[in-house]
Amino acid sequence: MPVPKDQASALKKLETLKTEIRHHDHQYYVLDRPSISDQDYDRLFQELLDIEQAFPALVTPDSPSQRVGGAPIDAFEKAPHRQPMLSLSNSYSPEDIGAFDERVRKVLERSGEVTYFCEPKFDGLAIELIYEDGVLTGALTRGDGTVGENVISNVRTIRSIPQKLSLKNPPALLEVRGEILMFKKDFAALNEAQQEAGTVPFANPRNAAAGSIRQLDSRITASRTLRMFAYAPGVIEGEIFKSQEEFETYLAKAHLPTVGIAPKDESFEDFAARSEKALKAFASGKGEPVALARLCKGADEAIQYYHFIEKVRKLLPFDIDGIVCKVDNYRLQQELGFVARSPRWATAAKFQPEQGETVIREIAIQVGRTGALTPVAIMEPVKVGGVTITNATLHNQDEIDRKDIRVGDTVVIQRAGDVIPEVVRVIEAKRSKSSVPYKIPHKCPICSSPASKEEDEAVLRCTNILCPAIVKESLKHFVARRAMNIERLGDKMIETLVDEGLVGSFSDLYRLTFDQLIALERQGEKSVSNILESIENSKSTTLPRLIFALGIRFVGETTAKTLASHFGTIEKLEAASLEDLLAVKDVGPRVAESIAKAFKNKTLRKEVADLQKLGVHYEEVKKKTKALGSTALEGKKFVVTGTLPIPRDDVKDLIEANGGVVSGSVSKKTDYVLAGEEAGSKLDKATELGVAILDWDGFQALLNG
Ligand code: IVH
Repeated sequence: MPVPKDQASALKKLETLKTEIRHHDHQYYVLDRPSISDQDYDRLFQELLDIEQAFPALVTPDSPSQRVGGAPIDAFEKAPHRQPMLSLSNSYSPEDIGAFDERVRKVLERSGEVTYFCEPKFDGLAIELIYEDGVLTGALTRGDGTVGENVISNVRTIRSIPQKLSLKNPPALLEVRGEILMFKKDFAALNEAQQEAGTVPFANPRNAAAGSIRQLDSRITASRTLRMFAYAPGVIEGEIFKSQEEFETYLAKAHLPTVGIAPKDESFEDFAARSEKALKAFASGKGEPVALARLCKGADEAIQYYHFIEKVRKLLPFDIDGIVCKVDNYRLQQELGFVARSPRWATAAKFQPEQGETVIREIAIQVGRTGALTPVAIMEPVKVGGVTITNATLHNQDEIDRKDIRVGDTVVIQRAGDVIPEVVRVIEAKRSKSSVPYKIPHKCPICSSPASKEEDEAVLRCTNILCPAIVKESLKHFVARRAMNIERLGDKMIETLVDEGLVGSFSDLYRLTFDQLIALERQGEKSVSNILESIENSKSTTLPRLIFALGIRFVGETTAKTLASHFGTIEKLEAASLEDLLAVKDVGPRVAESIAKAFKNKTLRKEVADLQKLGVHYEEVKKKTKALGSTALEGKKFVVTGTLPIPRDDVKDLIEANGGVVSGSVSKKTDYVLAGEEAGSKLDKATELGVAILDWDGFQALLNG
């Protein structure tokens, strides 16, 4: 798209683009119902950026381009809340909902049932968004309840929070409160990246969300996926609401993210049955987000709601720690008023945290692929939330010091984000007098080489690149499915091969012989030939896989692909200077330095040469997407759904290798939907839109021209 020539038409075009992008953001981030392919979205965004670059005066704070974060700041500005941010009285037992209801009815002098607006209690951090004439102008943390910090630069990077409300006549002032949190899946991905980068992982999604929102560098916040749920009014001028239901309905209409309200005309049993089914489907990747708030009649339904939400808690994409029960009617809320710092019209009923108590037998040190020493508590087995737990990572020395965790301690443990076991605290009363603080030895537990910390890092690393633990972990990475894909070499086998001294490097795998393998315990002829065959098959690979397999720090799959298409051969990548590397799109200084450093190492260069001498080869990458195949699918847009004969990632690679593009959602622009077994809503959508549907055979036919 050409950039408009004059400012007036640029402004007009910008407005259209902003509205369009805002619409797609809402569809994608709030409704989880993408309305456009990633490529088309990127195109719109690029067009907006081009125009803003040509007309910098037209860049406004509410532009989608401002969501990427800006230069770091020294500190957040403190700002008073127009209305104090209070907290809720809370309890851990559903019976207290009954007591709450009695109090409410007593104050209101009511004998009949009160209607309660019930919703999950989100486990994140409270935030207040300020919209003036419909435009987001501030975002305050709770702080001490009276004065908060303005974290607007970070909040702007959260895609589900509109910069501008989708309302024809927005109120002069709308303060809305809610919770910022991180979805479990985004938390898992972030921690994986933290681990890869050698930085300390977060203990749970709430900490990750809190840490991200308090970042002084908003570009870091922008790189993490945060979400929000809006649930309470602050000061509002120019709009009056009669009830919580009306308020949250209005928020959703304005495109603010809420949990959604379940239909009113449904019995509790129907609500529970329908929602549980829908939540299960959604958790397995089907269907749409499920509305979780519900109007409940009296204490009985509110208590049923508590039990229902507790039951489905693990199916939700985010952490919650209870339910909040609010008198729905705002006039009644006003009548009820406040006691001390809590409203009398609402209560929080928390769930029993899934915690357990056990004893730490020992603290073991694991050595990772990058040499990182990770302390792990080995505990007396204990059941928490139905799962037996024996190990919990203690992350690093700082974490151990902070909680003062010692061998022999009795500790409280819980499953962070409902999955990863975490030591919450030590029960000091049960500590033996002879216990001493724990220090991670500055020595690798495997090879006894000295361990050291790099600048800015909390992690100790073994410095010996030939350390058997590092070798084992590196080999496990090398043979992984997304790397060299040597299927038959499992973790156990790799360990045996290293322990037996048969393998000490990547290239050694290709030197293994039948006689060596058959001599190992529990190996039959069949399994040995299977191993050798899968090693042989792996020789024919691709450059991105080979680069990724080498396990260079910070070089994940995506970076490996970028490097492959930029350099085309492994030799050119090896020869690249720091400047050459920095010139690659999406490669920053940290990554560039790590690559340059890795290839300075003669051992690695010799390894790469040996691998190729032993038969490892790939087709040269000439052009980004077409190197590996034909142009049979040139420019065609695909959506892949259902179960296919080969892994989904490989199908994607295949399409891209033949010039096609893969996107996640079906739209009118989709050329083909490739549907495997048990294809669901995407297939329905394709039928609805009249998009061509291919089965696996049809796809093969298309590929082969
Ligand atoms: S309503 C007067 N609704 O829990 C406060 N709060 O101690 C009205 N929270 O400060 C708050 N989920 O940070 C409300 N659905 C929800 C909530 C919720 C989480 C948090 C919030 C609040 C604290 C209460």
